[in-house]
Amino acid sequence: MTTVDGRVAPTPPGLAAAGTHDAAYRPVLAVEALPAGSMRRVSVGDLDILLAHTSAGIVATDDRCPHMSAPLSLGTLDGCAVACPLHRGVFDLATGETIQRPTTGGLDADGVLHPAWTPAGSVPKPDPPGSKTEARKLTRTRRIRFYPVRVVDGTVEVALPREVVSPGD
Ligand code: FES
Repeated sequence: MTTVDGRVAPTPPGLAAAGTHDAAYRPVLAVEALPAGSMRRVSVGDLDILLAHTSAGIVATDDRCPHMSAPLSLGTLDGCAVACPLHRGVFDLATGETIQRPTTGGLDADGVLHPAWTPAGSVPKPDPPGSKTEARKLTRTRRIRFYPVRVVDGTVEVALPREVVSPGD
């Protein structure tokens, strides 16, 4: 087994995705299809994984924003920072933490409420009272969870929970 053909970022302490302890690695993508600075979505069964080749190395997470689940693979990657295509949230793929909160405000990972904000140059939109506003306030932006990843003989492999079922299993 050769593991020297791709740099892999370590999983941040305490942020391994559920079910990945002792999970089996599965090949998901040729490492040459993931050049530095790029992101790709790969799907295994009903699980959509974001592979990102960050400045800290390759990481694998859910391809779902930790705010409202938009596909992060459609966002932009700058170093280790991925910007979500919705609500301007920016997240650190080296630490799992939020760099910039979504414009909608709401709860952070620790349950602290943050107000909505308006990007520079935009006109503020007041939140009318009602269930939509309440839903935004109660939406929690979580920390990103990571799947263990390795590179073997030119292939990116990701440790996936046993319950992920794909055709042919
Ligand atoms: S869904 Fe990503 S910032 Fe809201």
